[in-house]
Amino acid sequence: MCGIVGYVGMNPAAPLVLDGLSKLEYRGYDSAGIAVFDGKCLRYQKAAGRLKVLEELTHGGETLPGNVAIGHTRWATHGEPTNENAHPHFNEKNSIAVVHNGIIENYQQIKEFLTGKGYKFRSETDTEVLAHLLDYYYKGDPMEAIFKTLHRVEGSYALGILFDDQPDTLFAVRKDSPLIVGQNDDGCFIASDVPAILRYTRKVYYVDNQEIVKLHRHHMHFYNIDAEEIEKESVTIEWDANAAEKGGYDHFMLKEMYEQPKTITDTMSPRIRDGKIVIDELGMSDEEIAAIRKIHIVACGSAYHTGVTAKYVIEKLARIPVETDLASEFRYRDPILEEGSMVIIISQSGETADSLAALREAKERGFKVLGIVNVVGSSIAREADNVMYTWAGPEIAVATTKAYTAQLIALYLLAMKFAQVKKTITQERFNQLLESLDKLPHQVERLLTDKENIQKFANRYLAAREVFFIGRGIDYAISLEGSLKLKEISYIHSEAYAAGELKHGTISLIEKGTLVVAVCTQPDLYQKTVSNIVEVKARGAFVMAVTCEDNHAAEGAADYTIYIPQTDPVFANSLAIIPLQLFGYYVAVGRGCDVDKPRNLAKSVTVE
Ligand code: AGP
Repeated sequence: MCGIVGYVGMNPAAPLVLDGLSKLEYRGYDSAGIAVFDGKCLRYQKAAGRLKVLEELTHGGETLPGNVAIGHTRWATHGEPTNENAHPHFNEKNSIAVVHNGIIENYQQIKEFLTGKGYKFRSETDTEVLAHLLDYYYKGDPMEAIFKTLHRVEGSYALGILFDDQPDTLFAVRKDSPLIVGQNDDGCFIASDVPAILRYTRKVYYVDNQEIVKLHRHHMHFYNIDAEEIEKESVTIEWDANAAEKGGYDHFMLKEMYEQPKTITDTMSPRIRDGKIVIDELGMSDEEIAAIRKIHIVACGSAYHTGVTAKYVIEKLARIPVETDLASEFRYRDPILEEGSMVIIISQSGETADSLAALREAKERGFKVLGIVNVVGSSIAREADNVMYTWAGPEIAVATTKAYTAQLIALYLLAMKFAQVKKTITQERFNQLLESLDKLPHQVERLLTDKENIQKFANRYLAAREVFFIGRGIDYAISLEGSLKLKEISYIHSEAYAAGELKHGTISLIEKGTLVVAVCTQPDLYQKTVSNIVEVKARGAFVMAVTCEDNHAAEGAADYTIYIPQTDPVFANSLAIIPLQLFGYYVAVGRGCDVDKPRNLAKSVTVE
């Protein structure tokens, strides 16, 4: 996700800000920029690409003299990674500069309002609306303009703001996206994360939601959303720089698992407006949606597993036939694509060679392709006819967690949109689904608090030779991902099996002590899967069941049961996968594996 750094103090600001941004590079970005107040006006430089480009253009900040500055590394969400879309963004007079981390969910409506007031926009970003809205409200009192702007925007944001007539003053705001402020003898800092300023101070203040900070050279003031000044306690950071990049987590994978509640919100909220699902980027009219006769979902690895889930969910809700393919198979099997078919390519990186080739294959045959992609401006994003971004932010760990979770959300929204247009579900059912979606972030958060129990159980299986994951329907899709999570980072062989298929051969591998993970979250299949649990236990297996709070039948049959909160069965994957992610993670940690960079694997497989 984006990185913000700001400084106001006795020293030249630009070099400090650039140095801070370099410590945030691990967060992933595709462009960078900086604005400095030089005593008379706001001067700036922006550059697509690596931070090094910006450093060279500004000679390490020397071409931008001044003691107050804000800088930004941008992970593109709205608009390609270009100079124009890079932050900071300005009002038309360039008298107000803004850097932003997060998503302004109602930016379209605000953009329409401001355009109607005669404002001209220079970028495709959501952030630019903030600069013009501040301008709209600014009558000489920056705090008043900031408060009025905050009351108008919806979404997540960490902001750094400069006004050219407020010298030596830097403003910062936080809602949902992380922001800290720090101070040393020479000045005050703002940053998205600790590593950016750890070199200058270990005394930081964590800005809480809807707090505004006004920073000067030697002091800072905190305000709440009601413009009341508040006191805050500082925190002394004990971490070293390396730990700080992971936000105090031991691995990026664990950090990204814990970002999943926010990932769900970021991917879902901008697409649910006034109780309706609005997927502008789908590029299809209701008539075109109604005419869909078949959907082909094509992807690799975990992205493919979300496609298998989507098959069950879309067919259940929208009654549209769905065929799923591994991209490496699809591209060579001369697939039969009938008229009225739609092709969906799912990819976190947007650069997976097989998935890109499958996209090209579908387009060559004259079919429109929807990309569900996490990296803005990636090859699949550029070549798809339409793109639905997952907004999970950069995913550093090779084993995907938050991007997988975001892909599921995107697919749920598609299924509900299609079902609504095709009228295959009632309004009441639609509302029930919306309610269940709304609860997911908090339910995921709750499941993540159970990590100690999972770790304890995982430590019993560090020496396992093989593990089986079984399930039926959506539970089979969950098993596929649970199995991949375990084997790709712990190097223990595991296999996912449709529970009803085990007896057709593979059950011969079950022996005393074999761990079988039985996923049973689908009420209409509980009993069936419980009978499979009994089957494998009769051959000596040790069974860990992952089931819903209302299914006590599994507890009676399994040796160890993990419960997930009640949700609609079509969304069960989003919850059941959490303990399975944690299980794979802790087995890998217990085995001393390189969790973030497993052997033989790449984050993006850009070769066949
Ligand atoms: C999953 O943890 C792996 N990183 C891998 O299976 C991955 O999902 C697959 O390579 C597809 O990558 P993509 O989503 O970037 O296309």
